Amino acid sequence: MSAVIGQPLPRIDGRPKTTGAARYSADIPLPGLTYAVLAGSRIAAGRITRVNAAPALAATGVIAVLTHENLPRIAAQPPVLPSLLGGPSPGETFFPMQDATIHYGGQHVALVVADTYERALHAAGLVEFTYEEEPAVTVIDQIRDRTEVPDSLFGGFVPGHSSRGDVEAALDRAEVRVDATYHLAANHQNPLETSATTAHWEGGRLFLHDATQGPNATQHTVAALLGVPHADIRVISHYVGGSFGAKASIWHHSTLAAMAARHVGRPVRLALTREQMFTSCGHREEQEHSVSLGADRQGRLTALRHHKLSPTSQHDDWAETSLEVGAQLYACDAYEGVYRLGRAHTMTPTFMRCPGEASGLFALESTLDQLAGELGLDPLELRLRNHADTDPVTEKPWSSKGLKECYRRGAELIGWHRRAAGPVADGDWLVGLGMASAAYPAAGPVNPQRARVRVYADGSAVAQAAASEFGTGVGTAMAQVAAEALGLPVERVRFEAGDTDLPNLASAVGSTGAGMISAAVHRAAVALRDQLIAQAVADPGSPLHGADPGRVGLSGGRMVLRDRRDTGESYAELLLRAHQPDAEATRSWAPPQGEPTHAMMTFGAHFAEVAVDRDLGLVRVRRLVGAFAPGRVLNARTAKSQLMGGMLWGMGQALLEQSVMDRRAGRWANPSLGDYLVPVNADAPQVDVELVEVTDDVVNPLGVKGVGEIGQAGTAAAIAAAVHHATGRRVRNLPIVVEDLL
Ligand code: MOS
Repeated sequence: MSAVIGQPLPRIDGRPKTTGAARYSADIPLPGLTYAVLAGSRIAAGRITRVNAAPALAATGVIAVLTHENLPRIAAQPPVLPSLLGGPSPGETFFPMQDATIHYGGQHVALVVADTYERALHAAGLVEFTYEEEPAVTVIDQIRDRTEVPDSLFGGFVPGHSSRGDVEAALDRAEVRVDATYHLAANHQNPLETSATTAHWEGGRLFLHDATQGPNATQHTVAALLGVPHADIRVISHYVGGSFGAKASIWHHSTLAAMAARHVGRPVRLALTREQMFTSCGHREEQEHSVSLGADRQGRLTALRHHKLSPTSQHDDWAETSLEVGAQLYACDAYEGVYRLGRAHTMTPTFMRCPGEASGLFALESTLDQLAGELGLDPLELRLRNHADTDPVTEKPWSSKGLKECYRRGAELIGWHRRAAGPVADGDWLVGLGMASAAYPAAGPVNPQRARVRVYADGSAVAQAAASEFGTGVGTAMAQVAAEALGLPVERVRFEAGDTDLPNLASAVGSTGAGMISAAVHRAAVALRDQLIAQAVADPGSPLHGADPGRVGLSGGRMVLRDRRDTGESYAELLLRAHQPDAEATRSWAPPQGEPTHAMMTFGAHFAEVAVDRDLGLVRVRRLVGAFAPGRVLNARTAKSQLMGGMLWGMGQALLEQSVMDRRAGRWANPSLGDYLVPVNADAPQVDVELVEVTDDVVNPLGVKGVGEIGQAGTAAAIAAAVHHATGRRVRNLPIVVEDLL
């Protein structure tokens, strides 16, 4: 049968989503439902000296007001488990309303429960707080002279300092040297669906409908915080309206909803407001990058130094891991990466789409573009001369690469050969071309991933795992994976997910979802197929009775003899004869343990054509071309759609997105979709996504490297390079705004 994996099938969940039949976590109807609204601190630093809940309690419909004075204490901070990445924010050690201290603006200080949302919202504004305010530190300029290099970042996963060779000596000796410093605005993820939890307790068991990237991570985190056994918590997350990292870690509101439901003895719905999304789920931190490159006259890199400075919270060491990509992307003997952190009165930052690489590559690739200029080399040729044939960090072979082919195909599509030394004028517009490399880690989770596959006596099948569908198309792709292994038409196969009563999985973060879930689903489906073939050959009533199982294959939805395809039967016939309603298999995929044999990264290349209005400084991206080699593609339509979305994100990062800190108030000044700008359809240029095929036999059973982040890795650098080509201006801050180009 023709391959089902890879087919550009439309999303199975497209219809329920577009007709409104899909139920999100804040849509769950429950008898006796109550509504919780959070109130946030008006100061960013200091302490609460007095609380007056009386006016709120007296308001119509109010059932409870919880503050640090009466909210139960948490049982324990959950351990940070790399296997569950997406549990508590790695390094997160803070839970609100445990004492009177204020660590950041907007910190949750009260939770009001009422019989309607409007009444709860109104009463949340009536809780009176008196504060003792201290000066707040919120931006890089205030922490510059009090930073530290941490031993490690967020729970020990990444060292604060790493190096190879002698980078200072190599920089001193370099024939050509470029030093540059970049500033990147803080960003917020802003998924369309704000984070929401509907909680209810039934017979001592907690049911949480939670918008999350990892139902098992929510279960694990809330269980630890409440001191309740895992088995007593069931997390359901059938539809999630986007996340981009905002729902990758488990933030406080999920547990607060559970606490409130227990307190009032009724179901509670807690949905964050858009404004609260800016102070409740982390953010991409403001950052400053300093890059120094040394090279010989032929453009071969001899030194690469990349330092990053960023604010973290009062309680945790967090920085986006922006520097690891530069250590691996190019062949270069001397490297140093250093993270400097300063404590600020912001909440702990977190993953935001393409966490780390999107920022690190902007700085690194922009500096390479400048180096190419100083050497008089084509920027693409400079990349080719520094191509890393093996991983420069471990000296191991790549599990697969395809980068040169990405460069070639991308260059062809954008017409890179037409790039002249300077811009081309088009009326008032100056048109330029720029490019950048894309790279993102492709290693998966470290723990076993499980899935179950079941075939029913009516010939249909279901694959099950506790994944959440947050817009990635996982349901469609996994139906394809199971259908192919079972030899069934994909219309007869469903993927059931979003429920911790199903086999457990790690959170789908860091572009690992498709690889790890497909590995488990594939294993389970293959096991079930083999089990049913074994049952058939052992069944005297089967036309396959007595056959060698190795000679039985799948064809036309049936098990058949490979060399006599008219001899065989369907799963349904086999099961009905045995009076079996169904048959199932559960399997784990355990990633290989110990020292990996290969280095695993996904690669790609971005090309951008931009036009800059020579008088007004307006930037219009006219074309984006991205060529990527993400290994096996499970569904060409949803994969391309994710990659295109990533590229448009990169355009937002380049030109629009910035969370502006009001440093006097210690608060984000633009917490709304009216003031926090993201690209809309009218901003979207022509976007071409090119898939470069590479076979990867190492990364996971199906060779899937993931498409979640690579689309955004390097986009902003390609756009900034094109702006430079068009105007001669090297803009070193993101977003690039009109003022930079006047
Ligand atoms: Mo992704 S930003 O790792 O959820």
